[in-house]
Amino acid sequence: MKRMMQLPELLMRKRRRDRAGVFFGCLLALCCTALLVTAVWLGMQAASRQTLRPPEAKPALQTADFQFAAALESGNTSESLIRFTEQYALGVRYPDLGEEKMNRMLREDALGIVDAVEQSYRKRPGGAHAVITLDYELVPCNEQYTTVVYHLIQDFSDGAPRQHQVRTFLYDLKHGQRIPLEKVFAASYPEFMSRYVREWAAGQETLKELAGTDAFLEATRAEWEAFSRVSYSTEGITVYFDAGQLADVSQGMLKLTVPAEEISMLMRRDILDPASSVQPDQLPEGIDPNKPMIALTFDDGPYTPVGNRILDALEQVGGRATFFYLGERVHEGTAGVIQRAKALGCEIGSHSYDHANLTKLEASEIWDQFSRTDQNLKKVAGVTADILRPPFGAVNDTVKETVAKPIVTWSVDTLDWKSRDAEKIAKEILENAKDGDIVLMHELYPSTAEACEQVIPKLAEEYQLVTVKELMQARGIQMQNGKIYYRAGKK
Ligand code: NI
Repeated sequence: MKRMMQLPELLMRKRRRDRAGVFFGCLLALCCTALLVTAVWLGMQAASRQTLRPPEAKPALQTADFQFAAALESGNTSESLIRFTEQYALGVRYPDLGEEKMNRMLREDALGIVDAVEQSYRKRPGGAHAVITLDYELVPCNEQYTTVVYHLIQDFSDGAPRQHQVRTFLYDLKHGQRIPLEKVFAASYPEFMSRYVREWAAGQETLKELAGTDAFLEATRAEWEAFSRVSYSTEGITVYFDAGQLADVSQGMLKLTVPAEEISMLMRRDILDPASSVQPDQLPEGIDPNKPMIALTFDDGPYTPVGNRILDALEQVGGRATFFYLGERVHEGTAGVIQRAKALGCEIGSHSYDHANLTKLEASEIWDQFSRTDQNLKKVAGVTADILRPPFGAVNDTVKETVAKPIVTWSVDTLDWKSRDAEKIAKEILENAKDGDIVLMHELYPSTAEACEQVIPKLAEEYQLVTVKELMQARGIQMQNGKIYYRAGKK
């Protein structure tokens, strides 16, 4: 007889079935979740590896991969960030230069660009979908300075033209600093660039039509902002313009290079070449580093009547001196005495443009003082000054950080401007000047010329009369930009 199942047994079986159901249900749910997570994770990996897929993008927009891949081949790793929103897919890549503080700065700068663009999307929701890529190029100038050139590219699903904008940052890797444009160039930079770019455009087949338009003139106005995207190399500087800024947007981003010989006078020379400070290269013939030597120096010139008398006295004994000229006095009228000084092997230094107290100026104004002087020297005598003497000997940290020349003061002050007395000046020199001294005088007073006519033949019996650079070279000192030198005795 078939045993009838009793109620309790039936209930127990049902419970067992229920338990099994719950167990398998849970297992299934778990598996599904794991699968889903894996799928999402794999999807994200794939996306971050190659492509960004904007929602509803046109096929042409589906691969917005980073195009400046060359940056990765240079041995620098890079950091990246991927983000998707309703409006756009965003990919950001910025360099990793190895050092923590430096990398934090790089990240901040890159994300600063991204923040601005994301904000602009938040302000106008509901537009076309976009793929935004921020990628970079590294443009190393030398071991110390590198530019990171960021390319911000926006592609749109509605077929609107691609936007290509450029941002640049110059970094001093040695000191872990970002260097603002105003610390690189003299105050006349915007004016110079405006003229330069307009002349360049006038000669370009694709641009000359546009060169007179309001938009073009606005884009090339003589302001810092207009020429703020710059990279540096030993050949010169490259200036970038966003797509649509100078010409039609279809022409894309535009750039042009200004050769070093054209721009270097307006910029800190150490950026193009950190070794540009006065080098201890070979000593000029006839200088014995073991014999005593003195560097006579003359400020505030050129002034032909006095300068020529000093040069006459030097020429007679085969001596040389250093002249720290004022830029505003360097012109056709004084070209003769400058060229003569140069021909006699004298050194030409800079004493600022108009005898300004440099400690009262902004960095860009300090720059201007020396770049304008160099421009005049170049025009008149084909030279630029390697060293400078600050008016009043006044120097502060801004001056030291800003100037791209070694700073020369003095160890013997003749006070010739005060006494205007040849005897007193001569006595001061003969009693106090010794080996390694730098003697301060001024190329302005007949009394100074007269003192030189007395003193130079006497000094020449005991000392070699050399330039400041020769003195430093003879004593094995490599002069550096922004450092102060006032004498160089034997070691
Ligand atoms: Ni002076």
